[in-house]
Amino acid sequence: MGYWCAVLAVVGVGAYVNASPKSAKICFRKDFAFGVATAAYQIEGAWNISGKGESIWDRYTHEHPDWVFDHKNADVATDSYHKYKEDVKLIGDLGVSYYRFSISWSRILPTGLSNQINEDGLRYYKDLITELHQKDVQALITMYHWDLPQSLQDLGGWTNPIMAEYFVDYARVLFRHFGDHVRAWVTFNEPLSFCQEGYGGQDAPGRRASGVEDYMCAHTVLRAHGMVYRMYKEEFDRNNQGYIGIALDMPWMEPYTTSSVDKVAAETARQFLFGWFANPIFSKRGGYPPIMRRRIDVISKRQGFFRSRLPTFTKEEVDMIRGSYDFLGLNHYTTNLVKPGDGRITAKPSFYNDMGVKLIVSPEWPKSNSSWLRIVPWGLRKTLNWIRHTYDNPSVVITENGVSFEKGLKDRKRINYIDSYLRSVHAAIYKDNCDVIAYTYWTLMDNFEWMRGFSERFGLYETNYSTPDLKRIPRLSASYFERVARTGCLDD
Ligand code: NOJ
Repeated sequence: MGYWCAVLAVVGVGAYVNASPKSAKICFRKDFAFGVATAAYQIEGAWNISGKGESIWDRYTHEHPDWVFDHKNADVATDSYHKYKEDVKLIGDLGVSYYRFSISWSRILPTGLSNQINEDGLRYYKDLITELHQKDVQALITMYHWDLPQSLQDLGGWTNPIMAEYFVDYARVLFRHFGDHVRAWVTFNEPLSFCQEGYGGQDAPGRRASGVEDYMCAHTVLRAHGMVYRMYKEEFDRNNQGYIGIALDMPWMEPYTTSSVDKVAAETARQFLFGWFANPIFSKRGGYPPIMRRRIDVISKRQGFFRSRLPTFTKEEVDMIRGSYDFLGLNHYTTNLVKPGDGRITAKPSFYNDMGVKLIVSPEWPKSNSSWLRIVPWGLRKTLNWIRHTYDNPSVVITENGVSFEKGLKDRKRINYIDSYLRSVHAAIYKDNCDVIAYTYWTLMDNFEWMRGFSERFGLYETNYSTPDLKRIPRLSASYFERVARTGCLDD
């Protein structure tokens, strides 16, 4: 926990107000860290400037503008490539101890391969890190937040097993150039999203081969994660001072009723949506969750395949991937209710058909501006507890939690969201003994929300897209979050 202690020390111990027994004030331990997050494609802009190569999101949004909700792209986004100093000032003003951002692979390696390094790309991230350190903010770097170099997609992207080796090369460049100043790393952000949506759904690169390519993608990504973890520990982190993990998304899956069929359905959903990536890394035995193995093997056979659509790891790969973490990054926003599906097996392979459950929401749960995001704070406590008992209480960094509401600076609803979810985290730590060490709000400022374009606003700062300087204006939630980050305590 050294790094996260160091991260917190930056906040200034003197600023911490301890829990007073009388007031029942809700406070986190001094070594609990607060941060904010962004991702390269969503904020940087400068999509083809200073030697950056094309990414799959550049290609996708240029080729299919009408698939994006507001027909926009992130060519400019919030222009953070040029405005990073201003952004770092905003981060400093929040009093947080770390900033989670991602590196654009094709800004560093325009073709994705290690033979051509873009010096301007290196310089940009070096300057960003230096600027952060001057404000006493540490960097938590995500190596991959969905923007694969297009030239690697042309080779099949994550369905091509060679991509794991190329990712190792890219990671080595990052460790070489930034490793002396950065000790906290996330290999992949939400592989469920980019494998399932990218290879079997609506996101870039726009492959629509659910139940086949999404499993191939995941297989490569898991190998790549394990290989980078091992390489980092052997070559760059011999004293074991660094922290490297993966950020997995997990909405809580609550059984629709207390019936045993609904309970089984909910657990199946957890294993498909989260265990798919978590089991190989965080479980004692490693490998894919047994329920996935069983269901996909059987369904593949019934569909006439000679072999399961879920690939198999070698024994060496299972061992290499198992235990390849210093922390589990959790992206959590919402909750679903789960009941069994109709049991039909479709002729066409499909991830959701393999999972075989129905996901719904309760009409009583308050809405946000995202159709998929209902506000259910207790779901986070249940998620943390499920992780604790399923994977033997790993250290968890909440790498994302946040909410989108309508435009406006008086965002009391966002404050309530953060406050209620943080209460849930607090209970998970102090009542249930979950090992949660940090909380990251998504996101610093309104930015490009993938297929929803700029129509969704998750920011603590409001971005004014109609002013040429894309002005960032603090919302009420920014000063609220600053108070929480500086004191470690929630408002009464
Ligand atoms: C998940 C992703 O990591 C991030 O890129 C996205 O903007 C947020 N959640 C909100 O949807």
